[in-house]
This record gives sequence, C-alpha cells and structure tokens, in this order.
Amino acid sequence: MLNIAVFASGRGSNFQAILDAIESGRITQARICVVISNNAGSGALAIAREHGIPAHHVSQRQFGTETEYVGALKNILAGAGVNFIVLAGYMKKIDPVIVRTYRNRIINIHPALLPAFGGPGMYGMHVHDAVLASGATTSGATVHVVDEDYDRGPVILQRSVAISGGETPASLAAKVLEVEHELYPEVVRLFAEGKIHIDGRHVTIAGAR
Ligand code: GRF
Repeated sequence: MLNIAVFASGRGSNFQAILDAIESGRITQARICVVISNNAGSGALAIAREHGIPAHHVSQRQFGTETEYVGALKNILAGAGVNFIVLAGYMKKIDPVIVRTYRNRIINIHPALLPAFGGPGMYGMHVHDAVLASGATTSGATVHVVDEDYDRGPVILQRSVAISGGETPASLAAKVLEVEHELYPEVVRLFAEGKIHIDGRHVTIAGAR
C-alpha cells in the first residue's frame, strides 16, 4: 500500500487529479494520508479538509531552527505512516534529511520536458516563457524522482504537447496542465502496482515498451 503524503503550495489541481483517481478506483493500493503545505491559504489544504484528509500548514518560519522544522515534518510523516511523498506544486526545496529518509520514494511533476527548462527559478509561468522564447516546437510534462538537486532526479515518465503558432505562455500552461492531470495519477498508479524500478538514474516500468 502506498501511504502518500502530498506536499503542495498552491491551488492543488494535481493533488485533486490524484485524489480523483484514488476515489474513483482507478488507483487501488494507494491512499493519501496527509497533505502538507507551506502556504496556509493554499487550495490544496482546502481540498484536503473537504475530503477529511489531515492537512497541516508547516512553514519554516514557525520554528527556531532548521533542525526543529525538519523534525516536525518527519514527525508528521512518521505519525501518518507515510511511505511515499508526492510533490504537487510545492515551492520549497525538500530538505536533504527527508530526501535521504525517503530515497527514491519522492516524486515531483514539472511542466516541461526535463532536463531542459528546469532548475532554480524555473517554476510557474517562467517555464513556459523560457520554452516559447527558445523557439522549441514541443513542450510537455515530466514526472521525476526527487533527489538533492532541483529538477535533476531520474525521469520516470514524460508526455509531450505540440506548440502551435501563436502559442502564449498561458495557453501553453493550460495545455501542459491537462497532460499533467493524466500523467501524474498514472505514475502514482504504477508505483502503487509496484511496476517502477529505479536503478541509479535509470527507471524501468514493468510492461512498458
Ligand atoms: C504544476 O504546473 C506543476 O507542474 C508545478 O506546479 C504546478 C502546480 O499546480 N510543479 P497545481 O497546484 O497542482 O494546480
């Protein structure tokens, strides 16, 4: 069973897509145990509360030291029996202590085809601005393993979208988001079914061509 913690800072549409997939039975063997946000006003916390999922606002500012902050996060995760972490629009770097504790058990979704257009500063509309400025004809979404470096962990699954003439950052963001909402639940399902094997930077998916 995947006992999932979702970390989210914003509106929470990817969290919602995964929740829908679980609630509709498209994903079995997974449940969302807890949602953690560094933003008290995030849509993700509101969605969690509507669904009776424990929801915590945890911000480093609430703690005197980094160690206390990370300790509090670890306590919430351990207390909820979490064995898998899904980052869904989480705007803060995951502490290396958490990365080590959940090695290869933390995933993120990025709104471009990594390893291009990732890294510090590449979030939200900045990503789509940079993609369009580059003249690329294709973009997409990437789900990857989270390691110590921003957007650099092994790629698990990607899906592309074509960039049309007259594309704007907003229209591209909308197209990519639609793909994200299919891709992310699919990857969670594959993990829940034990089909994903990670060997260093190489990820294999059982049954995939
Ligand atoms: C998504 O575009 C995701 O790729 C990025 O942050 C955004 C989160 O959107 N990491 P939402 O909060 O899931 O709606």
